[in-house]
Amino acid sequence: VRSTENLPQQILDFLGKSNEFNSIQLAQQWDIDHQKLIGAIKSLLANEGVLATKDVTEKRLELTNEGVQFANEGSPEFLVFEFIGADGAAQADIQKQPFGKIGMAKAMQFKWVSVDKGRVVRQTSDVADTTRKQLESLRIGGDVDENGKKELKKRKLISEVNIKGLLVSKGDSFTTSLAKQEADLTPEMIASGSWKDKQFKKYNFESLGVVPSSGHLHPLMKVRSEFRQIFFSMGFSEMATNRYVESSFWNFDALFQPQQHPARDAHDTFFVSDPAISTTFPQDYLERVKTVHSKGGYGSAGYNYDWKIEEAQKNVLRTHTTAVSARQLYQLAQEGFRPSKLFSIDRVFRNETLDATHLAEFHQVEGVIAEKNLSLAHLIGVFTEFFKKLGITNLRFKPTYNPYTEPSMEIFAYHQGLAKWVEIGNSGMFRPEMLLPMGLPADVNVAGYGLSLERPTMIKYGINNIRDLFGSKIDLEVVYNTPICRLDK
Ligand code: PHE
Repeated sequence: VRSTENLPQQILDFLGKSNEFNSIQLAQQWDIDHQKLIGAIKSLLANEGVLATKDVTEKRLELTNEGVQFANEGSPEFLVFEFIGADGAAQADIQKQPFGKIGMAKAMQFKWVSVDKGRVVRQTSDVADTTRKQLESLRIGGDVDENGKKELKKRKLISEVNIKGLLVSKGDSFTTSLAKQEADLTPEMIASGSWKDKQFKKYNFESLGVVPSSGHLHPLMKVRSEFRQIFFSMGFSEMATNRYVESSFWNFDALFQPQQHPARDAHDTFFVSDPAISTTFPQDYLERVKTVHSKGGYGSAGYNYDWKIEEAQKNVLRTHTTAVSARQLYQLAQEGFRPSKLFSIDRVFRNETLDATHLAEFHQVEGVIAEKNLSLAHLIGVFTEFFKKLGITNLRFKPTYNPYTEPSMEIFAYHQGLAKWVEIGNSGMFRPEMLLPMGLPADVNVAGYGLSLERPTMIKYGINNIRDLFGSKIDLEVVYNTPICRLDK
């Protein structure tokens, strides 16, 4: 094996004596990797006029994986012949060998062996493993007669491949002693005038840029910033969501969700053990919430049950960002009502059975609009605009139930890829039982909607399993390799 050190100089020296060479043949002659030789030729091409090249293609026979195996271990027919030895062997034992099936068929065809009452015996005392010899020869670039090649091809032990190489000859300014090429023009070269005698490397406009060593945004964070921009462009402002642990009071009670509602069950909600309870609440408001649940009021009959502070005190990991909206709406009523458009995007937690589309924590995108005399038609108008900005234009609405909204609508979009309608969000007009105890004026309506951040992200990035997107097991390469921006609009 020739040393590949300073290959470009070796090439120049060789060409100086021989005028022309074919890279495929030279690589074989020098016993070096063809790609290495091509790399060295390419590096010389940066020096204008030193080399002249032409593309050449050569057909070459290459061993298939099976061919390599036969060359290493012997052909199956030969292995059978060896296996049975001078005494013969039971056919069943041969069939159990990895080489048994093909080996028997070929050995029979070659009349090396014969079968008699389930025993296989040799028909000749000595055989030559020609198949193996041919493969070995081809592997090191040797030749084999046409019939042999045909047979090996038929057995899929070799295949023909095209190798692209270069026919290299001397260029107009060929030399065997190359001046060192400068990569940079320096201030010193200009000052001293030495640049006049230097040779400069040509720019390579085809080379790939250096990947900037920067941080990488997780796909969820990229889609989150898209959502934020949409909300901002529609005049929404962002709510503070820095409160994963929330009392049941704000997560459920304030939202007119009865204390025995199944969603409060430990199956759906994570309860916090330390600290297990919250103790500070706006007292007047808490009393009004208690009353509307247990006795009714504001034109409502309520739920008529024994509302307990102990249940409202229990701390939970918030199950939806509507807990944030409830706090914010209460705040709005205290400050004195003004028309408001608010949004939040953050984490929520549910005690779900984990599968390809569900995790125990995910992100919700939530919008809230508080305005006098707001109707369902306004809400549909907002959705249409909001989703249009995301590139989703085909919407349908289906009545649904939430304890805190009436009417409530599920939002469906037509998914081109799946060719069906998929649910993308939940929405509704908040109930007076929720808004009036907060102290909001009677003619104020509040509309809200929520969707997950994960689902649109998975659709946009073509991720099928949520566990490839989020959680402790995700591959960081996925984060590195997602494009900085998607040009899909
Ligand atoms: N909180 C609801 C959910 O988790 C979404 C929603 C928000 C519905 C606001 C109506 C109003 O699905």
